Amino acid sequence: MELGNIGNKLFRSSLLALAGNRAIESLALKYGLQLGAGKFVAGETLEEALRQVRWLNAQGIVATLDHLGEGIRRLEEADSYREQYWLLLDGIRDSGVNANVSLKPTQMGLALDPQACLAYIRSIVVKARALGNFVRLDMENSLYTDATIDIMRRLHGEGLTNVGTVLQASLYRTEEDVRRLRTYNLRLVKGAYKESRHIAYPLKADVDANFKRMIGSRLRSRMGYTAIATHDEAIIDWVKDLVIRERIPRSSFEFQMLYGVRATMQERLAREGYKIRCYVPYGRMWYPYFVRRLAERPANLLFVLKNMIRR
Ligand code: FDA
Repeated sequence: MELGNIGNKLFRSSLLALAGNRAIESLALKYGLQLGAGKFVAGETLEEALRQVRWLNAQGIVATLDHLGEGIRRLEEADSYREQYWLLLDGIRDSGVNANVSLKPTQMGLALDPQACLAYIRSIVVKARALGNFVRLDMENSLYTDATIDIMRRLHGEGLTNVGTVLQASLYRTEEDVRRLRTYNLRLVKGAYKESRHIAYPLKADVDANFKRMIGSRLRSRMGYTAIATHDEAIIDWVKDLVIRERIPRSSFEFQMLYGVRATMQERLAREGYKIRCYVPYGRMWYPYFVRRLAERPANLLFVLKNMIRR
Protein backbone atom coordinates (compact mmCIF):
# COMPACT_ATOMS: atom_id res chain seq x y z
CA MET A 1 0.00 0.00 0.00
CA GLU A 2 1.34 3.49 -0.83
CA LEU A 3 2.25 5.88 1.99
CA GLY A 4 -0.40 8.35 0.77
CA ASN A 5 -3.05 5.67 1.09
CA ILE A 6 -1.96 4.77 4.60
CA GLY A 7 -1.97 8.45 5.60
CA ASN A 8 -5.48 8.96 4.21
CA LYS A 9 -6.80 5.88 5.96
CA LEU A 10 -5.31 6.96 9.29
CA PHE A 11 -6.71 10.48 8.87
CA ARG A 12 -10.14 9.13 8.03
CA SER A 13 -10.33 6.56 10.82
CA SER A 14 -9.06 8.99 13.48
CA LEU A 15 -11.68 11.55 12.50
CA LEU A 16 -14.47 8.98 12.28
CA ALA A 17 -13.58 7.85 15.81
CA LEU A 18 -14.20 11.45 16.92
CA ALA A 19 -17.72 11.37 15.42
CA GLY A 20 -18.90 9.28 18.39
CA ASN A 21 -17.10 11.27 21.09
CA ARG A 22 -19.73 12.99 23.26
CA ALA A 23 -17.26 15.24 25.13
CA ILE A 24 -15.83 16.70 21.92
CA GLU A 25 -19.35 16.95 20.54
CA SER A 26 -20.55 19.18 23.38
CA LEU A 27 -17.45 21.32 23.03
CA ALA A 28 -18.03 21.70 19.28
CA LEU A 29 -21.72 22.54 19.77
CA LYS A 30 -20.72 25.33 22.17
CA TYR A 31 -18.69 27.03 19.46
CA GLY A 32 -21.58 26.77 17.04
CA LEU A 33 -21.91 26.48 13.30
CA GLN A 34 -19.75 29.58 12.74
CA LEU A 35 -16.51 27.62 13.00
CA GLY A 36 -17.09 26.00 9.65
CA ALA A 37 -19.92 23.48 10.03
CA GLY A 38 -22.19 26.08 8.37
CA LYS A 39 -20.53 25.15 5.08
CA PHE A 40 -22.21 21.72 5.27
CA VAL A 41 -25.25 22.36 7.48
CA ALA A 42 -28.06 24.63 6.28
CA GLY A 43 -28.84 26.03 9.73
CA GLU A 44 -30.24 25.03 13.07
CA THR A 45 -33.90 25.75 12.26
CA LEU A 46 -36.42 24.53 9.69
CA GLU A 47 -36.94 28.08 8.44
CA GLU A 48 -33.24 28.47 7.66
CA ALA A 49 -33.19 25.13 5.85
CA LEU A 50 -36.30 25.94 3.79
CA ARG A 51 -34.70 29.23 2.76
CA GLN A 52 -31.72 27.31 1.36
CA VAL A 53 -34.00 24.82 -0.41
CA ARG A 54 -35.94 27.65 -2.04
CA TRP A 55 -32.66 28.99 -3.38
CA LEU A 56 -31.62 25.54 -4.66
CA ASN A 57 -35.01 25.01 -6.32
CA ALA A 58 -34.53 28.31 -8.15
CA GLN A 59 -31.32 26.82 -9.65
CA GLY A 60 -33.26 23.74 -10.83
CA ILE A 61 -32.00 21.56 -7.95
CA VAL A 62 -34.46 19.56 -5.83
CA ALA A 63 -33.68 18.63 -2.23
CA THR A 64 -33.88 16.04 0.48
CA LEU A 65 -34.14 17.58 3.94
CA ASP A 66 -32.58 15.86 6.91
CA HIS A 67 -33.36 16.91 10.46
CA LEU A 68 -30.01 15.98 11.99
CA GLY A 69 -29.85 13.48 14.83
CA GLU A 70 -28.65 9.92 15.32
CA GLY A 71 -27.80 7.34 17.96
CA ILE A 72 -30.34 8.50 20.55
CA ARG A 73 -29.81 7.18 24.08
CA ARG A 74 -33.39 7.37 25.38
CA LEU A 75 -36.43 6.32 23.37
CA GLU A 76 -38.31 9.51 24.37
CA GLU A 77 -35.88 11.43 22.16
CA ALA A 78 -37.45 9.65 19.17
CA ASP A 79 -40.82 11.23 20.08
CA SER A 80 -39.35 14.64 19.61
CA TYR A 81 -37.59 13.69 16.35
CA ARG A 82 -40.82 12.23 14.99
CA GLU A 83 -42.53 15.50 15.84
CA GLN A 84 -39.76 17.40 14.02
CA TYR A 85 -40.27 15.25 10.92
CA TRP A 86 -44.00 15.88 10.97
CA LEU A 87 -43.29 19.61 11.18
CA LEU A 88 -40.77 19.25 8.38
CA LEU A 89 -43.28 17.49 6.12
CA ASP A 90 -45.86 20.19 6.86
CA GLY A 91 -43.21 22.84 6.23
CA ILE A 92 -42.42 21.37 2.81
CA ARG A 93 -46.11 21.38 1.92
CA ASP A 94 -46.79 24.88 3.23
CA SER A 95 -43.73 26.45 1.62
CA GLY A 96 -44.29 24.66 -1.70
CA VAL A 97 -40.59 23.72 -2.04
CA ASN A 98 -39.59 20.67 -4.07
CA ALA A 99 -38.11 18.36 -1.45
CA ASN A 100 -38.47 14.97 0.18
CA VAL A 101 -36.97 13.86 3.52
CA SER A 102 -34.13 11.66 4.76
CA LEU A 103 -33.81 10.26 8.28
CA LYS A 104 -31.50 8.03 10.25
CA PRO A 105 -33.02 4.89 11.82
CA THR A 106 -30.92 5.22 15.01
CA GLN A 107 -32.48 8.67 15.42
CA MET A 108 -35.80 6.82 15.74
CA GLY A 109 -34.41 4.33 18.27
CA LEU A 110 -33.20 1.46 16.10
CA ALA A 111 -30.36 0.67 18.52
CA LEU A 112 -32.70 0.69 21.53
CA ASP A 113 -35.95 -0.91 20.41
CA PRO A 114 -36.37 -2.01 16.78
CA GLN A 115 -40.16 -2.42 17.11
CA ALA A 116 -40.61 1.07 18.50
CA CYS A 117 -38.31 2.39 15.77
CA LEU A 118 -40.45 0.72 13.11
CA ALA A 119 -43.55 2.37 14.61
CA TYR A 120 -41.91 5.82 14.62
CA ILE A 121 -40.73 5.48 11.04
CA ARG A 122 -44.10 4.12 9.96
CA SER A 123 -45.87 7.15 11.38
CA ILE A 124 -43.58 9.46 9.40
CA VAL A 125 -43.99 7.46 6.19
CA VAL A 126 -47.79 7.45 6.61
CA LYS A 127 -47.82 11.22 7.03
CA ALA A 128 -45.47 11.63 4.05
CA ARG A 129 -47.75 9.49 1.92
CA ALA A 130 -50.77 11.60 2.84
CA LEU A 131 -48.81 14.65 1.64
CA GLY A 132 -47.53 12.92 -1.54
CA ASN A 133 -43.97 12.85 -0.19
CA PHE A 134 -41.17 10.29 0.06
CA VAL A 135 -38.94 9.17 2.96
CA ARG A 136 -35.36 7.94 2.57
CA LEU A 137 -33.85 5.82 5.35
CA ASP A 138 -30.18 6.76 5.41
CA MET A 139 -27.83 3.83 5.90
CA GLU A 140 -25.66 3.94 9.01
CA ASN A 141 -22.88 1.56 10.03
CA SER A 142 -23.06 -2.15 9.24
CA LEU A 143 -24.61 -3.01 12.62
CA TYR A 144 -27.86 -1.61 11.23
CA THR A 145 -27.81 -2.69 7.59
CA ASP A 146 -30.14 -5.69 7.92
CA ALA A 147 -32.53 -3.93 10.29
CA THR A 148 -32.78 -0.86 8.05
CA ILE A 149 -33.49 -2.95 4.97
CA ASP A 150 -36.06 -4.95 6.95
CA ILE A 151 -37.91 -1.77 7.95
CA MET A 152 -38.13 -0.67 4.33
CA ARG A 153 -39.36 -4.07 3.17
CA ARG A 154 -41.84 -4.36 6.01
CA LEU A 155 -43.37 -0.97 5.19
CA HIS A 156 -43.61 -1.85 1.51
CA GLY A 157 -45.34 -5.05 2.57
CA GLU A 158 -47.93 -2.85 4.31
CA GLY A 159 -48.49 -0.92 1.09
CA LEU A 160 -46.30 2.05 2.10
CA THR A 161 -44.17 2.25 -1.03
CA ASN A 162 -43.06 5.88 -0.52
CA VAL A 163 -39.98 4.77 1.41
CA GLY A 164 -36.56 3.66 0.23
CA THR A 165 -33.10 3.16 1.66
CA VAL A 166 -29.40 3.35 0.80
CA LEU A 167 -26.78 0.76 -0.17
CA GLN A 168 -23.05 1.27 0.41
CA ALA A 169 -20.45 0.18 -2.14
CA SER A 170 -17.89 -0.21 0.64
CA LEU A 171 -19.54 -3.43 1.91
CA TYR A 172 -18.92 -6.84 0.30
CA ARG A 173 -22.55 -7.80 0.92
CA THR A 174 -23.93 -4.98 -1.22
CA GLU A 175 -23.57 -6.79 -4.55
CA GLU A 176 -26.09 -9.35 -3.31
CA ASP A 177 -28.30 -6.64 -1.76
CA VAL A 178 -28.46 -4.83 -5.11
CA ARG A 179 -29.70 -8.04 -6.70
CA ARG A 180 -32.33 -8.88 -4.12
CA LEU A 181 -33.62 -5.32 -3.71
CA ARG A 182 -33.76 -4.45 -7.40
CA THR A 183 -37.36 -3.28 -7.43
CA TYR A 184 -37.00 -0.78 -4.57
CA ASN A 185 -36.16 2.92 -4.78
CA LEU A 186 -32.52 2.99 -3.64
CA ARG A 187 -29.80 5.57 -3.12
CA LEU A 188 -26.34 4.20 -3.93
CA VAL A 189 -23.31 5.64 -2.10
CA LYS A 190 -19.67 4.73 -1.54
CA GLY A 191 -20.17 4.52 2.27
CA ALA A 192 -19.20 6.98 4.98
CA TYR A 193 -18.56 4.68 7.96
CA LYS A 194 -15.46 2.99 9.31
CA GLU A 195 -15.87 -0.77 8.82
CA SER A 196 -13.68 -3.82 9.38
CA ARG A 197 -11.78 -5.29 6.43
CA HIS A 198 -13.67 -8.53 7.09
CA ILE A 199 -16.85 -7.01 5.77
CA ALA A 200 -15.72 -3.99 3.72
CA TYR A 201 -13.23 -3.20 0.97
CA PRO A 202 -10.17 -1.65 2.60
CA LEU A 203 -9.01 0.07 -0.61
CA LYS A 204 -10.77 3.08 -2.10
CA ALA A 205 -10.10 1.82 -5.63
CA ASP A 206 -12.09 -1.35 -4.86
CA VAL A 207 -14.96 0.68 -3.37
CA ASP A 208 -15.04 2.85 -6.51
CA ALA A 209 -15.04 -0.23 -8.76
CA ASN A 210 -17.86 -1.81 -6.75
CA PHE A 211 -19.80 1.47 -6.84
CA LYS A 212 -19.68 1.42 -10.65
CA ARG A 213 -20.75 -2.23 -10.74
CA MET A 214 -23.73 -1.40 -8.47
CA ILE A 215 -24.77 1.58 -10.56
CA GLY A 216 -24.40 -0.35 -13.83
CA SER A 217 -26.40 -3.27 -12.52
CA ARG A 218 -29.23 -1.05 -11.23
CA LEU A 219 -29.51 1.14 -14.30
CA ARG A 220 -29.35 -1.78 -16.74
CA SER A 221 -32.04 -3.71 -14.85
CA ARG A 222 -34.43 -0.76 -15.40
CA MET A 223 -36.47 -1.86 -12.40
CA GLY A 224 -36.28 0.38 -9.32
CA TYR A 225 -35.59 4.12 -9.32
CA THR A 226 -31.93 4.86 -8.52
CA ALA A 227 -30.35 7.85 -6.79
CA ILE A 228 -26.63 8.03 -7.55
CA ALA A 229 -25.15 9.97 -4.64
CA THR A 230 -21.58 11.07 -5.28
CA HIS A 231 -19.34 14.06 -5.96
CA ASP A 232 -16.92 11.94 -7.95
CA GLU A 233 -16.78 13.63 -11.33
CA ALA A 234 -15.13 10.65 -13.07
CA ILE A 235 -18.00 8.40 -11.95
CA ILE A 236 -20.62 10.99 -12.91
CA ASP A 237 -19.08 11.22 -16.40
CA TRP A 238 -19.02 7.44 -16.59
CA VAL A 239 -22.76 7.36 -15.72
CA LYS A 240 -23.52 9.98 -18.37
CA ASP A 241 -21.74 7.86 -21.02
CA LEU A 242 -23.45 4.69 -19.86
CA VAL A 243 -26.96 6.12 -20.07
CA ILE A 244 -26.37 7.52 -23.54
CA ARG A 245 -24.74 4.32 -24.84
CA GLU A 246 -27.39 2.01 -23.41
CA ARG A 247 -30.35 4.35 -23.92
CA ILE A 248 -31.24 4.31 -20.25
CA PRO A 249 -34.04 6.82 -19.62
CA ARG A 250 -33.12 9.85 -17.50
CA SER A 251 -36.40 9.36 -15.66
CA SER A 252 -35.02 6.16 -14.07
CA PHE A 253 -32.34 7.90 -11.99
CA GLU A 254 -31.14 11.10 -10.36
CA PHE A 255 -27.83 12.39 -9.10
CA GLN A 256 -27.53 13.45 -5.48
CA MET A 257 -24.90 15.56 -3.72
CA LEU A 258 -24.44 17.06 -0.28
CA TYR A 259 -25.21 20.64 0.64
CA GLY A 260 -22.02 22.68 0.47
CA VAL A 261 -20.09 20.20 -1.66
CA ARG A 262 -19.34 20.89 -5.34
CA ALA A 263 -22.17 23.40 -5.72
CA THR A 264 -21.06 24.44 -9.21
CA MET A 265 -21.19 20.84 -10.40
CA GLN A 266 -24.72 20.55 -8.98
CA GLU A 267 -25.77 23.65 -10.91
CA ARG A 268 -24.11 22.39 -14.08
CA LEU A 269 -25.91 19.03 -13.95
CA ALA A 270 -29.22 20.86 -13.48
CA ARG A 271 -28.48 23.05 -16.51
CA GLU A 272 -27.65 19.93 -18.53
CA GLY A 273 -31.14 18.64 -17.76
CA TYR A 274 -30.24 15.91 -15.25
CA LYS A 275 -32.32 15.54 -12.15
CA ILE A 276 -30.10 16.56 -9.25
CA ARG A 277 -31.07 16.46 -5.60
CA CYS A 278 -29.15 18.20 -2.85
CA TYR A 279 -29.08 16.64 0.63
CA VAL A 280 -29.80 19.52 2.99
CA PRO A 281 -29.17 18.77 6.68
CA TYR A 282 -30.23 21.12 9.44
CA GLY A 283 -30.77 21.10 13.20
CA ARG A 284 -28.85 21.36 16.45
CA MET A 285 -27.26 17.89 16.36
CA TRP A 286 -24.88 18.53 13.48
CA TYR A 287 -21.63 17.29 15.03
CA PRO A 288 -21.37 13.60 13.86
CA TYR A 289 -22.58 14.56 10.37
CA PHE A 290 -20.00 17.32 10.20
CA VAL A 291 -17.15 15.04 11.33
CA ARG A 292 -17.99 12.49 8.62
CA ARG A 293 -17.73 15.30 6.02
CA LEU A 294 -14.32 16.29 7.41
CA ALA A 295 -13.15 12.69 7.24
CA GLU A 296 -14.01 12.51 3.55
CA ARG A 297 -11.62 15.27 2.62
CA PRO A 298 -8.53 16.57 4.47
CA ALA A 299 -9.02 20.00 2.84
CA ASN A 300 -12.29 20.40 4.78
CA LEU A 301 -10.41 20.14 8.06
CA LEU A 302 -7.99 22.85 6.89
CA PHE A 303 -10.99 25.05 6.09
CA VAL A 304 -12.27 24.68 9.69
CA LEU A 305 -8.83 25.25 11.21
CA LYS A 306 -8.42 28.44 9.15
CA ASN A 307 -11.79 29.68 10.45
CA MET A 308 -10.71 29.00 14.04
CA ILE A 309 -7.46 30.92 13.59
CA ARG A 310 -9.26 33.89 12.01
CA ARG A 311 -11.49 34.26 15.12
P1 FDA B 1 -15.05 10.58 -3.07
O1 FDA B 1 -14.92 10.49 -1.60
O2 FDA B 1 -14.16 9.76 -3.92
O3 FDA B 1 -14.94 12.10 -3.49
C1 FDA B 1 -14.89 12.54 -4.83
C2 FDA B 1 -14.57 14.01 -4.83
O4 FDA B 1 -15.69 14.72 -4.32
C3 FDA B 1 -13.42 14.40 -3.91
O5 FDA B 1 -12.20 14.33 -4.55
C4 FDA B 1 -13.79 15.80 -3.49
O6 FDA B 1 -13.37 16.70 -4.47
C5 FDA B 1 -15.29 15.76 -3.48
N1 FDA B 1 -15.78 15.49 -2.11
C6 FDA B 1 -16.22 14.32 -1.60
N2 FDA B 1 -16.61 14.47 -0.34
C7 FDA B 1 -16.40 15.75 -0.04
C8 FDA B 1 -16.62 16.52 1.13
N3 FDA B 1 -17.10 16.01 2.27
N4 FDA B 1 -16.29 17.84 1.08
C9 FDA B 1 -15.78 18.39 -0.04
N5 FDA B 1 -15.56 17.70 -1.17
C10 FDA B 1 -15.87 16.41 -1.18
N6 FDA B 1 -23.04 7.48 3.21
C11 FDA B 1 -23.54 6.49 3.98
O7 FDA B 1 -22.79 5.65 4.48
N7 FDA B 1 -24.90 6.42 4.19
C12 FDA B 1 -25.78 7.29 3.63
O8 FDA B 1 -26.99 7.19 3.84
C13 FDA B 1 -25.24 8.34 2.82
N8 FDA B 1 -26.05 9.26 2.24
C14 FDA B 1 -25.52 10.17 1.34
C15 FDA B 1 -26.36 11.02 0.63
C16 FDA B 1 -25.84 11.86 -0.34
C17 FDA B 1 -26.75 12.76 -1.11
C18 FDA B 1 -24.43 11.86 -0.61
C19 FDA B 1 -23.84 12.72 -1.67
C20 FDA B 1 -23.60 11.05 0.12
C21 FDA B 1 -24.13 10.21 1.11
N9 FDA B 1 -23.29 9.39 1.86
C22 FDA B 1 -23.84 8.41 2.63
C23 FDA B 1 -21.82 9.65 1.89
C24 FDA B 1 -21.07 8.77 0.91
O9 FDA B 1 -21.07 7.43 1.36
C25 FDA B 1 -19.61 9.26 0.76
O10 FDA B 1 -18.97 9.17 2.00
C26 FDA B 1 -19.48 10.68 0.26
O11 FDA B 1 -20.42 10.96 -0.73
C27 FDA B 1 -18.06 10.92 -0.33
O12 FDA B 1 -17.86 10.07 -1.41
P2 FDA B 1 -17.95 10.51 -2.95
O13 FDA B 1 -18.85 9.53 -3.64
O14 FDA B 1 -18.36 11.90 -3.10
O15 FDA B 1 -16.52 10.21 -3.55
